[in-house]
Amino acid sequence: ALVTPVSLTAYRALPRALLAVSRETGNIEWVEDDVPTGEVQDVLARHGFVSEAVDIVELKLGEFLMPGFIDTHIHAPQIPNIGSGQQHELLDWLSEVTFPMESRFADPSFAKRAYTAIIKRTIDYGSTTCCYYGTLHLEGTNILADVIHNYGQRAFVGKCNMDRNSPDYYVEPSPEASITATRDLITHIRSLPPAQGTTEPLVRPILTPRFAISCTSELLSELGKLAAADPSLAIQTHISENESEIVFTKQLFPASSLPAPPVPLPGAAKVNGTAKETTYAGVYDAFGLLRENTVLAHAVHLEEAEVEIIKARRAGVSHCPTSNFNLRSGCARIGMLLDRGVKVGLGTDVSGGFSPSILTAVQHASMCSKVVAMRSSSPPPHTHFTDRQLPVPTLLYLATLGGAEVCDMQSRIGSLAPGKAFDALVVSIRNDVGNPAVWGADLDEEFGVRGSGGEHGDEGGRGKTDVEELEGMLERFLFCGDDRNVRRVYVQGKLIGGKEFR
Ligand code: GUN
Ligand code: FE
Repeated sequence: ALVTPVSLTAYRALPRALLAVSRETGNIEWVEDDVPTGEVQDVLARHGFVSEAVDIVELKLGEFLMPGFIDTHIHAPQIPNIGSGQQHELLDWLSEVTFPMESRFADPSFAKRAYTAIIKRTIDYGSTTCCYYGTLHLEGTNILADVIHNYGQRAFVGKCNMDRNSPDYYVEPSPEASITATRDLITHIRSLPPAQGTTEPLVRPILTPRFAISCTSELLSELGKLAAADPSLAIQTHISENESEIVFTKQLFPASSLPAPPVPLPGAAKVNGTAKETTYAGVYDAFGLLRENTVLAHAVHLEEAEVEIIKARRAGVSHCPTSNFNLRSGCARIGMLLDRGVKVGLGTDVSGGFSPSILTAVQHASMCSKVVAMRSSSPPPHTHFTDRQLPVPTLLYLATLGGAEVCDMQSRIGSLAPGKAFDALVVSIRNDVGNPAVWGADLDEEFGVRGSGGEHGDEGGRGKTDVEELEGMLERFLFCGDDRNVRRVYVQGKLIGGKEFR
């Protein structure tokens, strides 16, 4: 059984698929949608395979294959803090809880031990790709990249750029020092060898100005130059997360202080640094930091002009609902952003978010959309998503293909399609995996809930088709699943984690 997203409103549920992965490249060669038991050999023969040349992996009742989760926003060094300091809002939480923990990663041996445990966890929760923030330290973040590379996870890794408004014990001494360390990190990450059988690196560098508040104009300007010189270099930062943060950002960057954006926007006078008023997005745009491979975390309180800029630049939004609830930041209007054509993926935002699992983000994304829908007095009638609750196909999309779009990797990852990398999960909702929150598919069978054809149709069976059965399994996994249900985790065809991995 296989599920894979197709669009924001549709996914494919194939109860009897056969999917071929190349051992050499780790890419998906082909997918046959419906192969009845007993016809596997015929189908293989039709594709020119002799059965000795292939390893056939069969799934059991209650197991299915799906694309790996994409966590578009996570702070690796904050995992030791999850569940601590839950009383704070953003700016106090940073100074009271977050910066003290991140500063410990100055010690390379601590960084090595901590990151080795941390990355194992994100993999086992089913994240096959993560956009990681490290700390401000070069050496510690080099270690983070090495650890990820050794495990075989796909990732973007950045060191935080932060040269002001941070405590004395955790701040970079100058824009020059920050840029030099950033260049060194990029060089280090690009020197890591690609995955076996491919020419494509699994770990990539990403520019990481922490947020506008923590960067001087000089630093943002230099980062903009680095970005301009290398369009392939991804960028990540925070935007419009918390009211106090937005007020402070606007004070720090009055419109008069901002350069004109390197690439003017249509209608620019209203929306960039030459405007009378600054917007948060306008600050990043002024320095050339918004483009198709920019990941913007949170986007909770965006103004109309900012939605326009983000859309025009084709930048992506990382929706981090667990964190947005936990730090009382607010409920992002994700449906509205989707209707406006903004790319959206999900982020755990550990440790603003208290769970490293994208499943938790899926559950909270659903809740967030329901809060938005409850607050809305009259949902606009002619839109798909605005102020409505997000349905299962949309939640699946955000957790996978939407995330791939946000990191500009949609041609390689995010769905199970020929030519893409085999970045996938084997999920089980069988009772024997020990997650009692999920009603096991094997229990369905036992109690006759499953009603294929006439077999169980009369006694308690609801006459569900195999496709409906699989759709039900996916929904139960998304809302009640956890890492116990993530049995095997593959990246680029290689088994790297999950509960069955030793
Ligand atoms: N803004 C700046 N730094 C951070 C961080 O570490 N987490 C969150 N949630 N927001 C931030
Ligand atoms: Fe964050």
